Amino acid sequence: MRKTVLALLMATLALAGNAFAENFPSRPITVVVPFAAGGPSDAMMRILGERMRATLGQAILVENTTGAGGSIGVGRVAHAASDGYTVGFGHLGTHVANGAIYKLDYDLVSDLEPVVLLPSNPMIIVSKNAVPAKSLGELIAWLKSQPEPATAGTAGVGSGSHIAGLAFEQAAGIHLQYVPYRGTGPALNDLVAGQIDIIVDQTSNSINQVRAGTIRAYAVTDSKRLEQAPDIPTTDEAGLSGFHMTLWSGLWVPKGTPRQIVARLNAAVVDALNDPRVREQLETLGLQLPPADQLTSEALGTWQKAEIARWWPIIKAAHVKVD
Ligand code: MLT
Repeated sequence: MRKTVLALLMATLALAGNAFAENFPSRPITVVVPFAAGGPSDAMMRILGERMRATLGQAILVENTTGAGGSIGVGRVAHAASDGYTVGFGHLGTHVANGAIYKLDYDLVSDLEPVVLLPSNPMIIVSKNAVPAKSLGELIAWLKSQPEPATAGTAGVGSGSHIAGLAFEQAAGIHLQYVPYRGTGPALNDLVAGQIDIIVDQTSNSINQVRAGTIRAYAVTDSKRLEQAPDIPTTDEAGLSGFHMTLWSGLWVPKGTPRQIVARLNAAVVDALNDPRVREQLETLGLQLPPADQLTSEALGTWQKAEIARWWPIIKAAHVKVD
């Protein structure tokens, strides 16, 4: 008797779960972007969100919950209800590096469910216009000649711009003084205003200011030049061979979110990435779209684990201090 009641209860719950998932979404979905509005993560998510609305029939509300290199915003998602209505934007910094730097009250793999890989950004080395350098070699010489380490804007310890800064220091044999912001959006404003010296930034964030001539670009950390900015050399061409770094991004939901809901969210992003108008918006910013076979939620899970295995030893060896 007891077994029958339990079986009935489980069946009812499963049915309710299915019905719930089938009606998803029945209200707007919040995407937590763990960096400031106006920055590269925010800009990418707003472009995708606008198109996801068409597939999902509900608005995508972007919520910028910032701080601690993005780890506060990711925590907001890890502790949210696993109902699909709270989704987290993240990248190499927030979903790999931060796990080797911060004492997080969540686990990046066991508390979060991968949804989909998003476009990636080659990094770009940029400076304020007042820096007396016209090439990467001259920039590195200038950086080395400074009595005090030059200031480099970041989105906080563990963020993409910080990890890229650390990699640039190692590759060029220089020391930088990091100035943390809540995102590289506000950091870029200060670079344009000449308040800080350099940023190793995401191309999509700096490219329009470079085009406007309000900041200077020295190289992109990719093995090939950007179609959108063919005049900017690669680090290999500019004399820093082998310094390659591309910041990949993705979406995650709280662990336990029903598979059907993860699949609906994944499909909405895939639709957006297949939309020619959206592709053009993203590619104009220098973003590189993932290949179709990398757009499954499993592919993001596998990639994240591989990146954790690759980056944690490097980051731990750098003894990165959290302020
Ligand atoms: C941002 O949107 O501000 C960036 O993703 C920050 C970073 O990681 O550098």
